[in-house]
Parts: sequence; C-alpha cells; structure tokens
Amino acid sequence: IKSPQMLRILLGEKPGPVIASKKPFKAELVCGKRHSWCTCGHREKQPFCDGTHKAKAQGLMPQRFYTANPPYCDSTHKQEFIQSALLKGNTNF
Ligand code: FES
Repeated sequence: IKSPQMLRILLGEKPGPVIASKKPFKAELVCGKRHSWCTCGHREKQPFCDGTHKAKAQGLMPQRFYTANPPYCDSTHKQEFIQSALLKGNTNF
C-alpha cells in the first residue's frame, strides 16, 4: 500500500476507481486537441472525463493527452485480473 488514500480505498472508507468495461471504447479524436481520458471509470458515458471523479473518486485525475500520444488499447483488458473482476454496479458483461 503506497498511500493513506489507497488504504482508505481498500478498506472501503473512500470511493475509488471502478472498471467501466472489459472491452475497449472507440472514440473519435480531434487532431491537435487535448483529451482527458477517464481513469476513475465512474463516468456513465466513457471514455472521457466529465469531472465525475471529483465526487466519486477524489484524488484521481484524468489522463490528459494529445492525439500524438494517446492511451490506445494495449489489450491489458484481456488479462485474467481484469476479466475476473466485478464491473461497476456489479454487472459482469
Ligand atoms: S470522470 Fe473519471 S477521471 Fe474524471
């Protein structure tokens, strides 16, 4: 455990990130524009941040990027620890 915040999340005292989906999202990006990818998973409409993390996962920030260096899917979602984890709302699809 790397921080008191992480300990509070693990103990259930503080809301943390959730898995929004086990599949990648397609998104249209605008060349040269800065985008903010949602790292908390709480936003209903993924994959971009709308500020929901401020209420549901305080301390987390979106991953900001320009189209030259986006967080493209690297197939991490296919790994067992993701596929066996519960999704947001405990629905596993
Ligand atoms: S809404 Fe998820 S990081 Fe902002």
